[in-house]
Amino acid sequence: MDQPVFLLAPMDGMTRASFRSVCFDYGADGATTEMIQSLAYGRAKKRMSATFEEVLVCYDNEHNLAAQLIGSVPEMMAESARRLEALGRFDAIDINMGCPARKVVGSGNGAALLREPDKAIYVMEAVKSATALPVRLKLRLGWDDAHITAPRLIRAAQALGFQSVTLHGRTRAQRYSGEVDVHAMRSIIAQARVPVYANGGVTNAADALAFLNATGAAGVAIGRAALKQPWIFDDIARLRRGEPIPQRRAPERVALLLRLGKLACGHRPERVAMFEMRKFCGWMLPGLTGAEDVLKRLNEVVTLDGYRALLEGYLDRLVQTGDVEMHAGLTPAQTLDTV
Ligand SMILES: Cc1cc2nc3c(=O)[nH]c(=O)nc-3n(C[C@H](O)[C@H](O)[C@H](O)COP(=O)(O)O)c2cc1C
Repeated sequence: MDQPVFLLAPMDGMTRASFRSVCFDYGADGATTEMIQSLAYGRAKKRMSATFEEVLVCYDNEHNLAAQLIGSVPEMMAESARRLEALGRFDAIDINMGCPARKVVGSGNGAALLREPDKAIYVMEAVKSATALPVRLKLRLGWDDAHITAPRLIRAAQALGFQSVTLHGRTRAQRYSGEVDVHAMRSIIAQARVPVYANGGVTNAADALAFLNATGAAGVAIGRAALKQPWIFDDIARLRRGEPIPQRRAPERVALLLRLGKLACGHRPERVAMFEMRKFCGWMLPGLTGAEDVLKRLNEVVTLDGYRALLEGYLDRLVQTGDVEMHAGLTPAQTLDTV
């Protein structure tokens, strides 16, 4: 794949096929499913639970798509990798060594493996030998400042022939806030002989390019910023071509939200999909005249038809009054803390 690449980072509950598809429409170079619990998936009976079914749905416009596994029991990680490969839908398997959630690390998974590099390497070996698919690793710098284990794990990944590594430039102790350590990332990436994608804290397209340059990475993985601006991938492409970045006005935002709502109904129950759309509308509509009222009315909407009627009616009113631009002074978008 040509470099640099700009990828959608995995986000639990958010990066299902519907949202990934929209990001691919806007030119994302690849994506990863949310984490799949290997302890449950590796043992799942023939008839998978509805949640697994949903998480594993892929849409036609997706490419360079990895399925992400989380876990620390090598046999279960290996079995899960075999099952994912057998589905024939994914281009790679990604291993999660970054999730900081207390429940996850409490059971020795996700970022907990950063504290136990020997165990982490067993897991990596088990997955690599279980599948013919390319294997990737996603990790943080380390557990905390005193335990920066990423260099060792990245060396192991390259020795095992992993396809790439995504490096979130924070420690587990920092969770999702605090400064990304660009300096540490740069020095780790300079020593790596496997493509490393930089991740953490990108807020817009200019930021993504600055992060790429500052870290010397082979690409950038974007998480939360894409939830509010899935067009960030198109913005990046335009910036790289030296073109101006357009303002994303009401017609584009509403069309995107309508498409996302329809796609979401393709893999989850309509009522749940509509519930999810409240979040995306809360991130993308504020700044438009009357958005607050639409968001309030959205709380009552439980069907795709109702959703369509509400958003299409809203757009018609904006177009009729010639008020389709974003306005700086209006209600800010909901924060990403609501993810
Ligand atoms: C709601 C949410 C869910 C996440 N779920 C996952 C996950 O399933 N797997 C994973 O590797 N990282 C997960 N992450 C971490 C992101 O992939 C990314 O590393 C992190 O958000 C930093 O990047 P950003 O600042 O661009 O968002 C999640 C992050 C958020 C905010």
